[in-house]
Amino acid sequence: MCGIVGYIGSRDASTVLIKGLKRLEYRGYDSAGIALINGELELDYRKGKGKVSNLERALRKDSLIGTLGIGHTRWATHGEPNDINSHPHLSESGNIAVVHNGIIENYNTLKKKLIERGRVFQSQTDTEVIGHLIEEIYLASPDITFEHAIRLALKQIVGTYGLAIINKEFPDTIFIARKGSPLLLGIGEEEMFIASDASPVVEYTNKVVYLDDGEIAIVNRNSYKVKTIDDVPLTKEVHELAISLDAIEKAGYPHFMLKEIFEQPRSIADCMRGRINPENGTVLLGGIEDVMDELVNARRITIAACGTSWHSALVGEYLFEQLAKTPVEVEYASEFRYRDPLIGKGDVLLVISQSGETADTLAAMREARKRGALVLGICNVVGSTIARETDAGVFTHAGPEIGVASTKAFTAQVVVLIMMALELGQRKGILNRKKMKEYIRELSKIPSKVEYILEHNDQEIRKMASLFTYAPNFLYLGRSYNFPVALEGALKLKEISYIHAEGYPAAEMKHGPIALIDEMMPVVVIAATDHTNDKMISNIEEVKARKGRIISIMNDDNPEVKKLSEFCISIPSTSDCFSPVLTVIPLQLLSYYIAVNRGCNVDQPRNLAKSVTVE
Ligand code: G6P
Repeated sequence: MCGIVGYIGSRDASTVLIKGLKRLEYRGYDSAGIALINGELELDYRKGKGKVSNLERALRKDSLIGTLGIGHTRWATHGEPNDINSHPHLSESGNIAVVHNGIIENYNTLKKKLIERGRVFQSQTDTEVIGHLIEEIYLASPDITFEHAIRLALKQIVGTYGLAIINKEFPDTIFIARKGSPLLLGIGEEEMFIASDASPVVEYTNKVVYLDDGEIAIVNRNSYKVKTIDDVPLTKEVHELAISLDAIEKAGYPHFMLKEIFEQPRSIADCMRGRINPENGTVLLGGIEDVMDELVNARRITIAACGTSWHSALVGEYLFEQLAKTPVEVEYASEFRYRDPLIGKGDVLLVISQSGETADTLAAMREARKRGALVLGICNVVGSTIARETDAGVFTHAGPEIGVASTKAFTAQVVVLIMMALELGQRKGILNRKKMKEYIRELSKIPSKVEYILEHNDQEIRKMASLFTYAPNFLYLGRSYNFPVALEGALKLKEISYIHAEGYPAAEMKHGPIALIDEMMPVVVIAATDHTNDKMISNIEEVKARKGRIISIMNDDNPEVKKLSEFCISIPSTSDCFSPVLTVIPLQLLSYYIAVNRGCNVDQPRNLAKSVTVE
C-alpha cells in the first residue's frame, strides 16, 4: 500500500527519493510523485499515474534539483488513480507539500468547511485537506509556529496517517507525523532519511528511530526532535536494522517471488535456528518464555490474521488442538474486531502478520488488549507496530519478503506455529520426551525436504503450468492439515495470475463446487498420505467420475492417487502435522509459472498491496 520517502542532506534528493520509491514498489501502488525545495528555495513537484519509472523518465526531461524532498507511491482509496490525485498535495499557496499514508475519515466535513472559507481543492483525495488546514491555521496568527500549526491541524483530523510535510519557508526541515501508519527515520552522517518501511533506508544507514502513534518529528540535516502531538519532548531509542541490502534485491532471479520461493530451505532453517534441539527433543522460544505459564493455563487461544497469514492460522488450529490439546478459534482480524468479541482475562489472542502493519490485525490486537486478553504475535518484520505492541511473540526470521504474494513468510509462520504447539504440548505433559524427539528430528529435516522438492519438481511444474496457463478456473481440494493449503494454493493463483480459483475442504466439494466440474476444470488435490488418505481417494474418484483434470500433490508411496491423477507432483513424506510446509511449495511454483506465462506482473499484481494499512 502507499509508501513514503523523505530525504534531507547533501545528496541529490531527487535521486535518493526515486531510488527509495522503487524500493517501496513491492507494497503495491498506482501512482507516484515527489516534491523538493530547490536551489532558489522554491517548492516544486512532479507526480503522475503509473510506475515510478514513468516519474523517473519525466524527471530526466525536466529535473528537480535540491537536497531536501519527500516522495510517495499512492494506492488509491479516495479518488481514482490519476495524475491529480497522486501525491504530493499542495496547500492553497503552493508553499506546503504533503504526502500521506492512511485515511482521513472526517475529510468531507473538513473539506466542506475549508471550501466555505474560500479554499479551492484540486483533487478528490482525503489527503488534500491536510495541507489546506495546516496553512489556514499557520496563517491565521503570527504567533503560531509552523510546527504548532501542524499539531493543531492533526488534532482536528480523525483517521490514520503517516505524514511527511515540507514548507518552502523552512528549506532545512521535514516535518513528519504518525498515527496508525508506520514511519521511521534513518539517521545518517549529516543526512536523514524518512520512510514508511526500512527498505529505502538500508543502503544508507542501519540506525533508525521508529515513530509511534501520536508522535511528530522535526527533522533537520544534523538533528531531529521527536515530540508528542501535545508538544511533550520525547527521547527515542535508536534501533539497529538487522536487514541487509542483499536481502531486498533479486540476486539474479527474474522476480522476487521466485527468489523467495527458492529461499525457503534457508528461511525455514533460519526460523528454527537456535530454537529446536533434535538431540534432546526440546523447543525453546525465547520470545514467549515469560508467558508460557499463561499459555499453558489458557482456556483457549484465538488466532486473528488476514490473507495468507489467516491460512497459516488455520494450520495453527489443527496444530494446537492435536499437539497441545488447546482449543483454538481462528478469526479474520477484520471480523473479530467489529463483532463485540467474547475475549478477556485468561484468554490469549495470537495475531499473525508478515508485515506487522496490517490495519485490521492491529485493530484486532488492540481490541483484545483493551478487553484484558494476553496478546501474542508472530511477525516477520522486526520493529513493526504489531511486533512492538504485542505482550510477547516470536519472529519468523524469514528475511524481507518483497513479492506481494506471500510465500516464505507462510512457511515460516507455519514452522513457528509448529514449534509453539510442540513446546506447549510438552509443557502441558501431552507430548512425552520420546514423542518430542521424534517430532523435532523430523522437523529438522524439513529444510532439506523443501530443497528436494524445489530441485526435483521445478521442471515438471513448469510443463504443467504451460498446459493450464489459459484455464479460466481452478479448484483446490485438501483435507485436515492440507485444507488450509488448498485455500492458500487457490489464493496464490488468484493473486498473481488473475485466474478464478477456489480452495475447499475435499469432502465439502459435494455441497456445491462439484457442480462446476467438467472436462475443462483443473482440480488440484493435496493428497499427502495421512489419516485422511482413504477418504481423499474417494473424493478424487468423485472428481474423476465427472471428468475433472486431476493434478495431485502426493507422496511416492501412494500408487492409488497416482493412478487416478492426470498429473502428479511427488514430494517427500513427513509427519501429517508438518505436511503443509512441503505441500504448499509446488502450489507456489505452479501459480508463479502460470502467472509468468500469462505475462502478469508477478511481484506487483494489480490492485493488491503487500502491507494493507487501511481497514
Ligand atoms: C495483503 C498481502 C498478503 C498478506 C495479507 C496479510 O493482502 O497481499 O500477502 O497475506 O495482506 O498481511 P500480513 O502482513 O498481516 O501477513
